[in-house]
Amino acid sequence: MKSSSPRAMTAPIVTDWAHAWNGAEPQALGALFAADGTYTDQAVGVTFHGRQEIAGWKARADSLIDNVHVIVRAADRAGARHIRWFPIELGNVLHVANAYEDGQGRIVLEGPTVDREGFHLSWNWWIGTPGRGTEPVSRSYTRRWVVDMTAGSVDEQIIDDLPVEFPTLNEAYLGAENRYHYAVSFPDEKGNGCYGIVKYDRTTGARRIHQVGDARMPGEAVFVPAAGATREDDGYLLTVVSDLKQDASQLLVLDASGLDRIATVHLPHRVSAGLHGSWIPDTAPAGNRD
Ligand SMILES: [Fe+2]
Repeated sequence: MKSSSPRAMTAPIVTDWAHAWNGAEPQALGALFAADGTYTDQAVGVTFHGRQEIAGWKARADSLIDNVHVIVRAADRAGARHIRWFPIELGNVLHVANAYEDGQGRIVLEGPTVDREGFHLSWNWWIGTPGRGTEPVSRSYTRRWVVDMTAGSVDEQIIDDLPVEFPTLNEAYLGAENRYHYAVSFPDEKGNGCYGIVKYDRTTGARRIHQVGDARMPGEAVFVPAAGATREDDGYLLTVVSDLKQDASQLLVLDASGLDRIATVHLPHRVSAGLHGSWIPDTAPAGNRD
């Protein structure tokens, strides 16, 4: 983000609204509304009615998300005047690897993209559709969009030919320019690709794969920074590998730098492969742990 200050013309109600969201008093948000006011959170598609419900939503958001913070970039009574639409190729981005504003003010966004047919192919496996394949496949390929807000143009590229999903990164770089990101690689239905953890170096364009073997599907690889880490990839990757033939699970620990295996923990029974997790260090004193 280049600027955290709202535009000079921003109405006081907008700055008050942002201030209330950034504060610790849910009632302050509710108090900005008329007694019969409504508030729709477009991200989740839910409408709240009246001050109590609106304040309740702020309290709920605070309980679910650490450090909720609102930055007003633009505000307009006319509604969507500041939304700009850029035509790109059709596709579905289920998971974003990262997004940030580069040094030239362009927005860079990366993530695996799947077409309609590929989406149904993989989705049928995940939801257990009768007649599905015996192992999950993917037809998602990593794309990069560079949105030039000044020129009003988008540069769109497929940056790799390996089917992947579930991208992760060192979360200290979330929203900032990252050199590395990681993903789960899959075979496609034609036998290309493999089950493994892939590491992308965005500076050199290189990729490295740690293969885990046939019918052994890794879950999302969570990055854990090493103690005293100094480099972006100074840490570990944790992934739960599902052995689809043995109906067993192992926790695989990789060195995030070279993708070498550090340890395999054999779990006593099958568990979910896992996705959308974060590593949270246990820094609380023993007596304060929940
Ligand atoms: Fe998801």
